[in-house]
Amino acid sequence: MIRAKIAEILDSNQFLQEFEVNGWVRSFRSNRFIALNDGSTINNLQCVIDFENFDQDELKRITVGAAISVKGTLVESQGNQQRVEIEVKEFNILGDANPEEVKLTILSPKRHSLEKLREQAHLRVRTNTFGAIMRVRSKLSFAVHSYFQQNNFHYVNTPIITGSDAEGAGEMFKVSALDMANPPRDGDGSINFHEDFFGKETNLTVSGQLEAETYALGLGQVYTFGPTFRAENSNTSRHLAEFWMIEPEVAFCDLDGNMDLAEDFIKHVLKYILEHCKDDLDFLDKRFKTEEEAKPKAERSGLGLMEKLHFVIDNNFKRVSYTEAIEILKNCKPNKKKKFNYIIEEWGADLQSEHERYLVEKHFKCPVILFDYPANIKAFYMRLNEDGKTVRAMDILFPGIGEIVGGSQREERLEVLQSKMKELNIDEKELWWYLDTRKFGTCVHSGFGLGFERLVQFVTGMGNIRDVIPFPRFPGNAEF
Ligand code: 4AD
Ligand code: MG
Repeated sequence: MIRAKIAEILDSNQFLQEFEVNGWVRSFRSNRFIALNDGSTINNLQCVIDFENFDQDELKRITVGAAISVKGTLVESQGNQQRVEIEVKEFNILGDANPEEVKLTILSPKRHSLEKLREQAHLRVRTNTFGAIMRVRSKLSFAVHSYFQQNNFHYVNTPIITGSDAEGAGEMFKVSALDMANPPRDGDGSINFHEDFFGKETNLTVSGQLEAETYALGLGQVYTFGPTFRAENSNTSRHLAEFWMIEPEVAFCDLDGNMDLAEDFIKHVLKYILEHCKDDLDFLDKRFKTEEEAKPKAERSGLGLMEKLHFVIDNNFKRVSYTEAIEILKNCKPNKKKKFNYIIEEWGADLQSEHERYLVEKHFKCPVILFDYPANIKAFYMRLNEDGKTVRAMDILFPGIGEIVGGSQREERLEVLQSKMKELNIDEKELWWYLDTRKFGTCVHSGFGLGFERLVQFVTGMGNIRDVIPFPRFPGNAEF
């Protein structure tokens, strides 16, 4: 008797071998055919029961959602839906699932909306769609690590609770152990954080970058891969309040090297997924097609999911300066006809996602790397160009997603960095450790951040970011 996962059994040629397998019932037809799934693959194992030989009361407990253990023999399937099946010799009910109660949940076998599935996020992983998404997500994170490890990057864990509030990436969640109803106060009535747990104000991190930089300037090349938090009130299909970010940081590397790294990295993980998630991608590809067909023609992407993945792997990302992009946008139809919500009038305008998506989806029709943005719409740490008005920033824009990567060459010159901080009222005392790196062996260095969920969205074709993380956090929702 071999105890095995369904993925292994479905690939097996050990006919007449006895297997033991545990899983959850997806369906039970004609009192004879159990479709069993154990999460190892999207495919179910057909377990065939000779009902005459079993106790009727026990058979009644084989219901959708129940956990069962099956012992039986591997045989070639009589039906043409599957190659192999298990002839059941023995089964055990491990956990019942009352059909009357199952009926009220998303486990009941009918179509449920994604919104409904989100409300039952603890059960949705038992559906084909979410099983596929979460297996792909897991493989993607492995691919991220494998890429960096193969290329001599060191994995660093930057703090989740941080005392520095200067990244400027977004609103922060405060972390405090003070009694909120009755906090200690200073003479002027303001809260006295000296009495708080850390003796100062602290927040959940919005990015591990500044700490990662210090590590790159010692370990050479590093990457982080961890949770980050933003308290912006953005109710969009691309924003989460808690999301995972991958942030490589490389010493002795300029912006061109940074773009090369980002492009190579993304292509590597996509190739890995095409190779290792075939069944799940086939399913998601079909799902994507159905979703697309339900959309108005103008909103369809034109390419299938697999085609999109191949397209990104096979083509160079188009590298375009911000200045060129502004010219394109100023003169494009939706701008002239005032179809954009934000009309691009002149150089210096911040790009909204509608502009980014126009460039990628309508104009260039491929992934785009925008670089050399105006200094005053980007963060303080980006390296100032000779022109004195642009910085060595880059954003990578993807079809259907918009911005997937944000990065830059860092300002390595102490005086330039100090004057920028002064201009933005960033207290040097707060970032003394960051400035130290510019005093002791400073060097050209660069890095970027890739939003992991946006990558998972791209790979799975899911329209809403809330459906590619197990338990999404967004304004008004922290259930589970
Ligand atoms: O562009 P951002 O804000 O860049 C940084 O945080 C830099 N410190 C990164 C670096 O250079 N090391 O965020 C980086 C990426 C975005 O391109 C986007 O993919 C993702 O993080 N992102 C979000 N993903 C989901 N929900 C949100 N609220 C996100 N905000 C940013
Ligand atoms: Mg950004």
